[in-house]
Amino acid sequence: MSDERSGRASDVTQREFVGGQRLFGRYTLIRILGRGGMGIVWLARDEELERDIALKFLPELIIRDPGVLSDLKRETRRSLELTHQNIVRIYDFVHDERSGCISMEYVDGETLARLRCDKPNKVFEPFDLSAWTSELCEALNYAHTRARIIHRDLKPANLMVNQRGELKISDFGIARSLGDSMSMLTREQGRSGTLVYMSPQQLAGERGSHLDDIYSMGASFYELLTSKPPFYSGNIDRQIQERIAPSMTERRKEFNIEPALVPALWEETIAACLAKDPARRPQSAAEIARQLQMPSPEARPPAMRSLQRLFQRKASRCYRSKISVAIQTMLISQTASRRKSSAGFLRSPI
Ligand SMILES: Nc1ncnc2c1ncn2[C@@H]1O[C@H](COP(=O)(O)OP(=O)(O)OP(=O)(O)O)[C@@H](O)[C@H]1O
Ligand SMILES: [Mg+2]
Repeated sequence: MSDERSGRASDVTQREFVGGQRLFGRYTLIRILGRGGMGIVWLARDEELERDIALKFLPELIIRDPGVLSDLKRETRRSLELTHQNIVRIYDFVHDERSGCISMEYVDGETLARLRCDKPNKVFEPFDLSAWTSELCEALNYAHTRARIIHRDLKPANLMVNQRGELKISDFGIARSLGDSMSMLTREQGRSGTLVYMSPQQLAGERGSHLDDIYSMGASFYELLTSKPPFYSGNIDRQIQERIAPSMTERRKEFNIEPALVPALWEETIAACLAKDPARRPQSAAEIARQLQMPSPEARPPAMRSLQRLFQRKASRCYRSKISVAIQTMLISQTASRRKSSAGFLRSPI
């Protein structure tokens, strides 16, 4: 993902950090959670509020430029107000003269990008995604209509699932501003977002709209269901502008993914999200949920949701392997006792 980004990974904070280190007078670094194109994300302990948080370190170039830093803070101030259970909460900007980071809610889980790679054939099936889809639509709808903030970098790597199986959208409102700041500083052609999930309008550098997020959501789901985004090799820019992606069923056939068939409802809705003309896309995330006939999260029976999630979680692999170990142990002991009893039978005096 990093190299698809505008902004260079080499520009990330150069200062060396180690676990246990105390930073900015209140955070203790615990371990690295991951790396993105802009820098490293650490798990840390906020000693003042006694809670775990995630610290996303900003590129050094941004820290060194007070003007850009204050613009970034101003642009992202509104994302600090996003309060939704399915959106990763941004807490604060913290920095000194050498380094700086965005502190945010820690998600004890994995990204959908990562979870997809753990699936057989490296794809999800629509039923795996349904609970998360309705949470995503609800959160997007809240951000677009109530908070009036667009994400502009929606992608599987920014969709996380916590241990309780709840979906959390990360980097809301900050990915774009970070990308813009970096492209300004590096004078690279400015377009914030990740190429393969970008709408034709975003690619052309047009003013952002919530319909860019609708496109990116479509491109993300296309990838989650087929293992690749709609356009992934060759001249991607041009294909995003001009080509119609094959249906997901065609793509799955091409990759020998069984079952190849993706239900018509999903095909039609995702294809509509990927329309070149924003006016032809579903006009809101709520409309996507309606088209996919998603019940609202409240309408779903909690037990079913948690059960469904239990089997979707990466952790479920571990449960499943524990269960299969238990079953194997049972079978072995049954076989052993059968052998023993048959041996006993043979040995027993007649
Ligand atoms: N709030 C968080 N809680 C827990 N882990 C996180 C959090 N935010 C990010 N991560 C982890 O850090 C990794 C890197 O995140 P980051 O946002 O820097 O990169 P990205 O979204 O993959 O790519 P990009 O460079 O385009 O932003 C993620 O893949 C995830 O594993
Ligand atoms: Mg991210």
